[in-house]
This record gives sequence, structure tokens and C-alpha cells, in this order.
Amino acid sequence: MNAFIGSPIRLATVHDVPRIGLVAAAGFQYSNFWDWERPYADKYPEDTLKSYCLSFKNLILNPCSAVWVAEDTYDEKEAHGPRHSLIESAYSQISLDAPKDQKVIVGVTAWVFPSDSDHCGKFKPDNPNNEAPGRGFRGRDTNSKHMDMVDEAAEEATKKYFPGCPELSMTVVHPSYWRRGHGSSMVKWGMDLAKENNETLGTISSTMGNALCEALGWSREDTIHLEGDDEAPDGLTFNVNTYNKNKD
Ligand SMILES: CC(C)(COP(=O)(O)OP(=O)(O)OC[C@H]1O[C@@H](n2cnc3c(N)ncnc32)[C@H](O)[C@@H]1OP(=O)(O)O)[C@@H](O)C(=O)NCCC(=O)NCCS
Repeated sequence: MNAFIGSPIRLATVHDVPRIGLVAAAGFQYSNFWDWERPYADKYPEDTLKSYCLSFKNLILNPCSAVWVAEDTYDEKEAHGPRHSLIESAYSQISLDAPKDQKVIVGVTAWVFPSDSDHCGKFKPDNPNNEAPGRGFRGRDTNSKHMDMVDEAAEEATKKYFPGCPELSMTVVHPSYWRRGHGSSMVKWGMDLAKENNETLGTISSTMGNALCEALGWSREDTIHLEGDDEAPDGLTFNVNTYNKNKD
């Protein structure tokens, strides 16, 4: 299935996972969640990459999710921009000899539906081996306590602001392709689906994610601050956004 809403997007398959992992690692390192959740990514970049690959693989195989990728013409400079060891490692793991005009995945979005949603099973491309989703993976790059704090606060916010609603679970675009409308194309897909079905959408967003959502007409319901500690004295601030075309 393909959708063309600004920039072209298509459903992801498990074959896309290595490139998706790279795009996620390249983009998420600029999110304000990064230092809070992955303070040891420089030391254990292979764990960061593996966790993104597994998370997206599980989402691709999960019947109640829709994983969309945006594609763009490969920019040779993407492998030579400022980046730390994580991205160096990612590039060495998936050699990318893309010809100049080749389209590559530059962004990815994961939508997660409630388990009783009519959407379950509808947005699944053919995947090999009928594999079932596996377990999540938290590597040596993470601060587990900080991740648990985020999970707990996010769960509470979800129950309060968008219970039982489809959730925009992850959105990321490789920095070399920012501000070209890729994030918008992928998020608008879910907004169109919500409009058709008169649904509310929700998301827990980073500072950049909130900027994208607000630009697309989502509301900011709350801003949540997690108190800092010795490792991250400033703590973490993130947002809760919802979208409903009938609101206001
Ligand atoms: C957030 C993100 C996905 C946006 O992707 P993108 O493809 O650059 O987004 P778009 O080009 O569709 O942006 C559409 C509009 O959103 C707003 N916007 C997007 N990124 C913004 C930013 N960093 N700062 C302020 N506004 C921003 C702008 O209004 C923009 O329109 P404009 O370019 O005409 O000004 C990307 O910056 C990213 O991957 N960030 C790091 C990971 C992250 O934080 N993800 C969000 C998790 S909730």
C-alpha cells in the first residue's frame, strides 16, 4: 500500500528494519529524551541500534500497529555529517552503497491501536516467515530507572487524556531530511484515518515532536516534568498531545 500526501510514504516490512534502525538512531539522538533515556549510547552504540531494530521489528509484526516509512532521494552527505560513534557504528553495520538517485527510507512512524480496534490487521504488508513479535530489549546504553519513570508517567497520561485511542507511538526523520514534510506526511496518514472513523489520537511527545504536532493542528493537553537526579540534574520535560477534528 502506498500513500502520497506531500512526500511518498509506504508500509514498512521486516526487510526495512536495518535502515529503519539507523534512521531512528540518527534522528532520536536529537530528541530531548535521549540524554535522559540513553546516557551510555556513546559507549554501547550497538545496543542502541539493536533496541531500535527490535522495537520496530516488533511493531511491524504486531497486528495492532501500522508502521509507515517515508522515502527520499539518498543524500550522500548523510553519512558524513556531524554524528557520534552510534551513527558511525550503524553505517559500518549496514553498508549503504546507494547510487546518487536511489530512494532510501528517511523517516518512520509507528501507530499503535487498541487490541479491540477494527484497524488491527488492516495495515500489514506481507512479511516473511509469519514471524511473531518478540520481546523488547533494553541495552547497556539505557538508564533503566529513567525509562521506567517515563513509562509510568506516559501510562498515566495515556489513561487520563486518550484512553483506548490510537496512539502515535514513534516518529522520527533522519536529520539530513528534516523540514521537507516527511514527518507531516506520516502523521497526516493517521489523522486522515482518525477523521474517517471519528476517532481521537494521542501521543507522548518530545519538544520537536510537539512542534510537529502543533503545526498539524494537534492540541497540547499537558506538559510533564520528571525531577532530575545526579545523572541528569535537569530532569526531563515532555508533552501530551491529542488530535480530534471535532474538538474546539
Ligand atoms: C520531529 C521530526 C519527526 C519532524 O520531522 P520533519 O520531517 O522535519 O517535519 P516536517 O518537515 O513535516 O515539519 C512540519 C512542520 O512542523 C514544525 N516543525 C518540525 N520540526 C520542527 C522543529 N525542530 N522546530 C520547530 N518546528 C518544527 C514546523 O512548523 C514544520 O513546518 P515548516 O518546516 O514549514 O516550518 C524530526 O525533527 C525528528 O525526527 N526529530 C527527532 C526525533 C523526535 O524528537 N521525534 C518526535 C518524537 S515524539
